[in-house]
Amino acid sequence: MLRTAMKVPLLDLRLQYERLRPEFEAAVAEVMASQALILGPKVAAFEEQIAEFVGVPHAVGASSGTDAQLLIYMALGLGCGDAVLTSPYTFFSTVGGLVRLGIEPVFADISPETFNITPQTARTALENSCVREKYGQLRTFRGNRLKAVMPVHLFGQCADEGFSDFAAENGLLLIEDAAQALGAEIPYKGGWQRAGALGDAAFFSFYPTKNLGAFGDAGMAVCKESAIAERMRAIRNHGMTRRYHHPIVGGNFRLDALQAAVLSVKLPHLDSWSNQRRKNALLYKQAFAEFGDAVVSLPVESRAADEKRHHHIYNQFVIRSPFRNALREALAQDDIGTEIYYPIPLHLQECFAGLGYKTGDFPEAERAAAETLALPIFPELLPEQIRFVARRISEFHARITMCNPGAREKMSLCDPGTSTKSMSSS
Ligand SMILES: Cc1ncc(COP(=O)(O)O)c(C=O)c1O
Repeated sequence: MLRTAMKVPLLDLRLQYERLRPEFEAAVAEVMASQALILGPKVAAFEEQIAEFVGVPHAVGASSGTDAQLLIYMALGLGCGDAVLTSPYTFFSTVGGLVRLGIEPVFADISPETFNITPQTARTALENSCVREKYGQLRTFRGNRLKAVMPVHLFGQCADEGFSDFAAENGLLLIEDAAQALGAEIPYKGGWQRAGALGDAAFFSFYPTKNLGAFGDAGMAVCKESAIAERMRAIRNHGMTRRYHHPIVGGNFRLDALQAAVLSVKLPHLDSWSNQRRKNALLYKQAFAEFGDAVVSLPVESRAADEKRHHHIYNQFVIRSPFRNALREALAQDDIGTEIYYPIPLHLQECFAGLGYKTGDFPEAERAAAETLALPIFPELLPEQIRFVARRISEFHARITMCNPGAREKMSLCDPGTSTKSMSSS
């Protein structure tokens, strides 16, 4: 077989940088000349841009997505004695932020198709982990009051809009972990709204690998109530409301002006980058169909594809393979970059052992952790690079199923519904 050398990195941020370089340089020079380096007019302007983009009244810049998340919990008054229902299959920060404040995480399993928790799995989690008290309040078996549900819009695909009703039915706050989903859209009441506008509060991450990435760490919290926004503004600055007056205890969760300036340059391009990511996803799906890969499972979009709508913005393009680890090694030999998001579900992380979860508690999250692999999907990726990656994966699967006749059975034991045919909706 003839091998053509073609490097395909998981992500190459330099391409985006080079295209917008003069604008970055001008924006950064302006901040440097002003020497207004922390918060200030650049941060205020970027907050306004984000509030408008998401369609919410308030946006509060923070030093990272993790810190934006802390701002939300603290402003909402969540802490010891409280619990939040969320996903065990997500980046550590989603749950780390809760535990740092003494909040108990209660887990619901994920959908094997979207990797997100659903209102159905959340209902099961309530039955398995909580009792309903006299006035309908939910208390966990550990004795904490369930105060909020926090779906994660994982990999850039919005969680089910039914979480809005789920939260209302159960008297819970709805917090969205939208760290990976700025610009993704959720159908809602006959129309559409952006991720972050569904709940009481939401947070975004501008970590450099995100769809909208800063030149370092940065994040944003959004909310609907002005009193909560005001509390978040105080908490991010040591709880200070007037200079050296601290009615509440906060921390240093402030956003730098340089990051805000860079992000303001990038934001107007975000929708076109999301479009390009969606086009790349389609190219992958077409290529896998053409190469006849019967083993790979492709990302499923839970909403019908609509060119004008971005229900999934593909922060990551995540496939499944029952031979994931060997596949990753083979791709690395071809200079194809991949990543495993995430190899250990959170209920099995060593630092959460005290929560008492065990293997088998959330089978879909555990299976996803064993099978998923993220492929390059960044907007500047070339069609020939996408075809090359899909071809190498299809060749690998053909090879492994030929050398190991039991492999297909092993795969179908895992899940009969995850072949390319059934999983690859457009
Ligand atoms: C799902 C999710 N939640 C929270 C975070 C935390 O964001 P940050 O890295 O900006 O602190 C991330 C970022 O990686 C994330 O992917």
